[in-house]
Amino acid sequence: MTQEPEGDDGTLAVPTPQRRTSKLGIVGAGAVGSTMAYAALMRGAARTVALLDVNRQKVEAEVLDLSHGIQFMSMAEVVGSDDVSVLADCDVVVFTAGAKQRPGQSRLDLAEATISLVRKVLPGIVEVAPNAVYVMVTNPVDVVTYASLQISGLPPAQLFGSGTVLDSSRLRYLIARHTGVAVQNVHAYVAGEHGDSELPLWSSASIGAVPLLEWPGVGGHGPLTSEVREAIAHEVVESAYRIIEGKGATNYAIALAGSRIIEAVLKDEQRILPVSSLLDGYLGISDVCLSVPTVVGASGVAERLEVPMSSDELLGLRRSAEAVRTVARRFGF
Ligand code: 2OP
Repeated sequence: MTQEPEGDDGTLAVPTPQRRTSKLGIVGAGAVGSTMAYAALMRGAARTVALLDVNRQKVEAEVLDLSHGIQFMSMAEVVGSDDVSVLADCDVVVFTAGAKQRPGQSRLDLAEATISLVRKVLPGIVEVAPNAVYVMVTNPVDVVTYASLQISGLPPAQLFGSGTVLDSSRLRYLIARHTGVAVQNVHAYVAGEHGDSELPLWSSASIGAVPLLEWPGVGGHGPLTSEVREAIAHEVVESAYRIIEGKGATNYAIALAGSRIIEAVLKDEQRILPVSSLLDGYLGISDVCLSVPTVVGASGVAERLEVPMSSDELLGLRRSAEAVRTVARRFGF
């Protein structure tokens, strides 16, 4: 039998009722968008998944392929169109459409093409889904999130980016592999830009209940020396380049990371996720969208956590803020 949670006064707390229906909209039915629809359906994240793509034939084919699998998943409905009205009254809209990163290109190289696409389509989407929480995924996600806030006029809590949720899962995977413990027991965040200037927050990371910097090494696996940490940080940054080199795009892990964020919103989880949101005086950083550990729930971004940082980490975060800001300014934001 499951134990009901107790309230502060010792009485049984009434669980928050879950929304009876939930509608997830995904903009872009490419590799990321359609895999995110698949991941969200597999995880039972939403009752309706709506796909929007300019390519009608493609979006209709994705809808059919996904719908044919519903028998094997939680009950859901998949719809799709090249007409924006398909996103009417969505609870969450995830924006995955945009320029594709080619081998050798950095995420920041995609800014111009993505920003002009956002200008073209986002206002129309906000018109049909004014109350949705918006999650930007398209790269360069921090610049795109900042530009999208200005283009849409939405409040900063309601629109944010997937940020370094994916990078943090890459970091946790590599730490888990090095230490030989389950990835679920690794608690570590990558902060800053979702891109080349990002940085792992080593000083606040832990494995089980042990601070990561004091991890002794167990079961024949060594500790996380500064050399090991440097190699892991480098591999996190290089991961996407390696995957793009090998198969042209990344899709599985970003789709799962996106679904995690979607669930945090639709189930009002108040989950701590390193999403990219507009910072306003966070450890002295303002007027830029950047990832830091953030509480995410039904209204979007609830709060950013002021994580204790070493002086190097704080310097790294400020440098990352400057890198993102420079690109945003170049495009007039
Ligand atoms: C990723 O990190 C390319 O931003 C994408 O997988």
